[in-house]
Amino acid sequence: MQPKPNHDESVRQDFVTDLRAYLTDEIYTLITPHYEKKIEPEFLQSHDRKPKDKSEVKSLMLNDKGYQSWSLLQRLSQQMMFTSVIDTVERNLEAMIDNLDKHQEIGSLEIDDSLEIPRYLTAYDIHQQPGGYHSETIEKDISAGAVYDISLPIYSRNAMGEENDLLAQAIIHYIDKNIGTFQPKDILDMGCGIGNSTLPFSKKYPNSKVVGADVALPCLRYAHARANALGVEADFSQQNVEKTNYDSESFDLVTSTLLLHETSHDAVPKIIQECFRLLKPGGWMIHLDVYPFHKKEDDPLYDFLKDWEVINNNENFSGALRKMNMKKIIEDAGFATETVEFTSAEAAAKYSKGYTGDFYLKLPVYVAQKSIAS
Ligand SMILES: C[S@@+](CC[C@H](N)C(=O)[O-])C[C@H]1O[C@@H](n2cnc3c(N)ncnc32)[C@H](O)[C@@H]1O
Repeated sequence: MQPKPNHDESVRQDFVTDLRAYLTDEIYTLITPHYEKKIEPEFLQSHDRKPKDKSEVKSLMLNDKGYQSWSLLQRLSQQMMFTSVIDTVERNLEAMIDNLDKHQEIGSLEIDDSLEIPRYLTAYDIHQQPGGYHSETIEKDISAGAVYDISLPIYSRNAMGEENDLLAQAIIHYIDKNIGTFQPKDILDMGCGIGNSTLPFSKKYPNSKVVGADVALPCLRYAHARANALGVEADFSQQNVEKTNYDSESFDLVTSTLLLHETSHDAVPKIIQECFRLLKPGGWMIHLDVYPFHKKEDDPLYDFLKDWEVINNNENFSGALRKMNMKKIIEDAGFATETVEFTSAEAAAKYSKGYTGDFYLKLPVYVAQKSIAS
């Protein structure tokens, strides 16, 4: 299903992967020592105190040539990533669309032509992906899904695995480790995109019914065809997960990966309430997303650096999500207080294709159970 790059495209894509690795491993790691050895001491000398918050750090860093260079290159590398894969997708697009009909036998695809795409997805190009997830320019367009599929290995330096399933594997690992006896029969993956986060559940629980819901039709078309090409069954449905058309108490497990931080202040409580409505008594909700809290509140440099994605990479809501009172939102939706947990799910990442090393990622999850008495 994946569009294959030709020689020149492949070289460009490898270059961007290497550039991003270099910026992360070799340059980003210099920022904190540079700040501690040069920028902070100079400020201390002139002000008789350290910078007190992220806005003071910001005004220092934005004038620093080293930080400016890294930041500019980091933003450009994201643009280069997308332009390098878009050529491959455009060259293969017609053939991929012609092939779609061959990949429709397993599972289903439900389309809602009248669905309105939320403004938080249309107002700007999320993480600089041109046109975001939803834009369509030709009939049966799947380009946004294909772009997402082949840009993720560049973004992650091939660490997400052959089927880009690392995040869902982290949730599965969490379930095995913490609620091992739980065998969900009906599973909903909210904001499923191209099904990276959906298909691992079909494989793990082969007797279950697994559904992926997303607003973005080009991703869902791609997800359905991709699932067929991989021979894995799942149903895909075009829905806004703030309010779906599923009956109450339809699912044992509702999950998402990287959904919440791409929504809005209004949407998050609605999505959590919808999870509560959709879960059967005793069912579990697990969302994998950005940290819902400041890891180092007393560190203004950390506070400044973690906003980089918000300010420079069109991840506009991810900073705001960290500040939301998710515990209250989850409890207000009806989840049993004693089951609400913000913790880490582990995943074994494995670099490949020239990058070496295995490492364990600890990915933040928001977990809660609907009580049996609900
Ligand atoms: C970062 S992608 C993650 C996709 C997939 N879960 C993964 O990990 O690869 C976020 C997805 O959430 C979808 N999304 C955002 N808001 C949504 C909403 N209110 N209803 C349904 N899908 C939504 C987007 O269209 C996008 O496909």
